[in-house]
Parts: sequence; structure tokens; C-alpha cells
Amino acid sequence: MNAFTYLAPTKIIFGKNSENKVGSLLTKGGYKNILIHYGGTSAKKSGLLDRVYAALKDANITYHELGGVVPNPRLSKVYEGIELCQAHSIDFILAVGGGSVIDSAKAIGYGVKNPADIWDLFTGKARITNGCLPLGTIVTLPAAGSEMSNVSVVTNEDGLLKRSLTHESGFCQFAIMNPELTYSLPAYQTASGATDIIMHTLERYFTTGETMPLIDSIAESLLINVMYNTKVALKNPKDYEARAAIMWAASLSHNGVTGDRNYGDWSSHQLEHELSGLFDVAHGAGLAAIWGSWARYVCQTNPARFAQLAVNVLGVPNRFNDPAATALEGIEALEEFFHSIGMPTSIHEMGIELTEEQIKELAYKCSFMGTRTIGGFQKLDLPDIEAIYRMAK
Ligand code: NZQ
Ligand code: ZN
Repeated sequence: MNAFTYLAPTKIIFGKNSENKVGSLLTKGGYKNILIHYGGTSAKKSGLLDRVYAALKDANITYHELGGVVPNPRLSKVYEGIELCQAHSIDFILAVGGGSVIDSAKAIGYGVKNPADIWDLFTGKARITNGCLPLGTIVTLPAAGSEMSNVSVVTNEDGLLKRSLTHESGFCQFAIMNPELTYSLPAYQTASGATDIIMHTLERYFTTGETMPLIDSIAESLLINVMYNTKVALKNPKDYEARAAIMWAASLSHNGVTGDRNYGDWSSHQLEHELSGLFDVAHGAGLAAIWGSWARYVCQTNPARFAQLAVNVLGVPNRFNDPAATALEGIEALEEFFHSIGMPTSIHEMGIELTEEQIKELAYKCSFMGTRTIGGFQKLDLPDIEAIYRMAK
């Protein structure tokens, strides 16, 4: 077992009507002047925003608002938020939405507190010296796990570069999670979110670091539960227990209990971020499109690990004398699952016909202009990355 440090400081308020507690949570924190940050229309349509306004009024909390965050959140909106927060001396950002809104809120929070340009923080040209403005969230989409992670992912429209920023100050202080708020999710977002949850677990599962049977069991059980409950939720979007299981799994899959982020693989995420940066696809769908190709490309590094996943999670019979065959059947079984929930298993299935030029552009950006390799399970350089995009085409 590797040595590790574990930090998960976000207070979770989970259950029906939990959003009604937002006023008292902010009052307890001493916050008086907040920014409500949200996406397009979903939180308005569902009446959630109206309930938030009412709760804040009851608690005598002043608020400003900034909506319009789009999936794969844009840097221009982040600049807008920074300006707004500075103009109104905002002391807390409340993100009402999915991963994109939460990530945009985190980026605004860094931008307000640090003298450096926010994009320089994302590219590593400058460093965070003064933390992040306090933030919290009411989650409406279980997927990215941003409510418990210290990661923010933003796309710069200039060059369509999608980059992430990880820092200890970027945790939400609280995350309100009412599974009923997810009843309105379109099937595609439910499935894409479930795929992201599965992938956060698998990225950690595929490690060359030491593994611990306890952590493997947690990860495998989480995967089985998410796969089962996604099918249930797609059939009956108002199944509370299924929605609740998926929602909690989203947080657990990205808060470090299913494995150590430092020892995981993360190639599929790096490969996908370039896809959603360039083509604006849903992150989870992009992951489903790329994963099988990545898996086939790296499988020989440790077929036994893939075979363990196949047998323990995907119900594949164990061919003890042929782990590679078991592994391959497992990869096919997970792809079959992705198809069964309406997810693509190739880039073509997302309506994109990749040209050779685009493959080279994606790979070049993914390798940070030829300056890095990706992958903890198997290191991948520029030609490897190109080969995987070509396979996933
Ligand atoms: O904008 P609105 O109208 O709210 O609609 C959203 C959006 O169109 C809709 N939606 C959200 N909640 C809903 C709803 N529709 C109906 N009912 C509801 N209750 O869903 C659409 C997608 O929302 P988005 O926030 O983009 O999805 P998700 O939560 O999957 O977040 C994706 C982003 O998170 C990043 C991804 O790269 C991507 O940019 N990630 C962030 C991570 C992190 N911070 O730790 C880790 C992840 O690996 C990921 O990279
Ligand atoms: Zn993800």
C-alpha cells in the first residue's frame, strides 16, 4: 500500500429538500454577499433557483447572479464572474448546477483572490498564492464529482484549449445533494454522467502503484452499483433510490476513496479533454468513445488487472490460463454496457469524422505541444496518443 495523505473537507448535506438549508449554511459561515452562479435554463425551469432566492431572502443574504455557464465552461464567463465579484465585493460563490458550473465557480474564485491572470494559473505559467474565494454548491447533475474534488476544468475559446487546475484551496465548503433535483436530467446526460463516474473509478483502478484489496472492493462495488442504477434510472427517471445511489457514487468516485489520484492512469481523461475542447462533446460521452481504444492499446501492460475488472465487475468467466482473453472480453463487456445506455464507443458515433490533421492536432495538444507524456498505467508519448485517437476514430 502506498503512503498517502487524504483530504475531503467538503460538508455534504444529502437528501430530499436539502436545498432549503442553503440559507442557514451561509449564515453559519458568516457570508453576507454572495454570487449565485448557474448554467442555462434547467435550474430556472425546475424552480430550483426561485427556491434558492427565497431561502437567501429569508436569511437576509444579499446576492448577485451570473448565469449562462455552458457545458465545457468557457474562460470568457470566468473573466465576467471575476469582474462581477470584484465590483460587488462578493464573499462567497454558490454554484447551482453540474460540473461545468462548479468548475467555473472555482476558476472565478481563484481569479478573484490571486493577482495572476486566471489562464496563467491554468497553464502553469503562474502559481496560486492566495487560495480561492469560499464556495459551495447545490448539485443538479451527478457526474464530474467536482463537488468533492479540488479540480477545475475550463476551456479557453482562444485555441479551444481545455485545461485543469488542481489546488488544495479549491474544495467546496459544502455540497447540497438532493437526488430529486436530478429527475429532470435528459437520458443522455444521465448516461454521460454515469460514464464519467465509472471512468473516475477506472482511472484510479488502473495503476501500476501498489493496490489494496479493500480499495479494489470499494471501487468494484461502486462500479457495479452505478451500472445497475443507471439502467434503473434510465427506465424510471424518478426512482429515488437509483438517483440517490448514482449521486453519492459521483462524489465517492472522485473524492479519493476509490483509489489514489496520484497513482492512477488518467490517460482517458487527458485524451477526452482535447476532444471536448475541440468538438464541445459531453465529457462522459467522450470518455466512452475513447476508453475501449485506450484499453486495447495498453492491455498487455497488465492483462491480469483488466481480467480482474472483467470477472469481478462485468461478469466475465475467468479463463485462469488466459488472462489476456479474459481481459479482452471485459473490455468488450464494458463497451456493450456503454452502448446499452446510449453512449458511443467511437468518435464516429458522436457524429465526428476525424481527419488525419485533426488527429495530429488533438495529439499535439494532449501532449502539451510535445512536452509531456500521459498515463500512469502505461506511459504514452505523442505517437502513442495519435495511435489511440486513430483507433478510436
Ligand atoms: O445549463 P443547464 O440548462 O443547467 O443544463 C445542463 C447542461 O446542459 C444540464 N443539466 C444539469 N443539471 C440538470 C440539467 N438538465 C436537466 N436537469 C438537471 N437537473 O446538463 C448539461 C451538462 O451539464 P455539465 O455541468 O456540463 O455536465 P457535467 O456535470 O457532466 O460536467 C462536465 C464538466 O466537468 C468537467 C468536464 O470536463 C466538463 O467540462 N470535469 C470536472 C472535473 C472536476 N472538476 O473534478 C472532473 C471531471 O473528470 C471532468 O473533467
Ligand atoms: Zn471525468
